Amino acid sequence: MLSNIIDTHAHYNDRAFDSDRNDVLASLRGAGIVCVINCGTDLASSVQSRELAEQFDFVYFAAGIHPEDCGNAQEEDLAKIQTLLRHEKCVAVGEIGLDHYWPEPPHDVQNLFFERQLALANDCKMPVIIHDREAHGDTMALMRRYRPAGVLHCFSGSVETMFEAVSLGLYIGLGGAVTFKNAKKAVDVAKAVPADRLLLETDCPYMAPTPFRGKRNSSALIPYTAEFIAGLRGVDAQTLIDQTTENAKRLFF
Ligand code: NI
Repeated sequence: MLSNIIDTHAHYNDRAFDSDRNDVLASLRGAGIVCVINCGTDLASSVQSRELAEQFDFVYFAAGIHPEDCGNAQEEDLAKIQTLLRHEKCVAVGEIGLDHYWPEPPHDVQNLFFERQLALANDCKMPVIIHDREAHGDTMALMRRYRPAGVLHCFSGSVETMFEAVSLGLYIGLGGAVTFKNAKKAVDVAKAVPADRLLLETDCPYMAPTPFRGKRNSSALIPYTAEFIAGLRGVDAQTLIDQTTENAKRLFF
């Protein structure tokens, strides 16, 4: 059985886990998971992420306001996020970023919250967990400007963009989406990304890997993603996992 797995991006606060959250989390250690980073998407879910981290010793958290949630966020939420960042189990500002797939919230509002949180992360010397959906150009421009430590989660850019991100010191997060039938770009990235820059993640409850696509995801399904990526790279899955766990520790701990 595969072990020593870190899930660098999960949302166990999501209502999809309301009926069995504690059972799912309690079962993860037995599935080879040594650590989960639960990511906030607004103030409330960042507080819930802190609560999960206080409840489970292997759960850590990130606090931040997601681009899709910044339309409802208040200026003062950022001060409260800043307070959460001081918690001993908070390891990153996230998830934050840009989402140009949807027209709302307006791009200027997304930019405002993203830039404020990039500055906050740099002030606190913490890494960022970045959501970039169909906004690669604008995201990379801000990466060049702020030069944060961090990860581009569920990376969906080109191999060229990946190499630029790596040259800026960033990590590349890959999850179940890389196993999807139409994932040609992500497959190319998974083959090319330097071994010391790859992180594994779920984004659960979303993005369950094949053959569970469309079902509720959990960290226990990371072995499917790891086996798939390891196959692309011609290494064994445990070797890939051990390397990505070392990478996650270097970035977050
Ligand atoms: Ni996410």
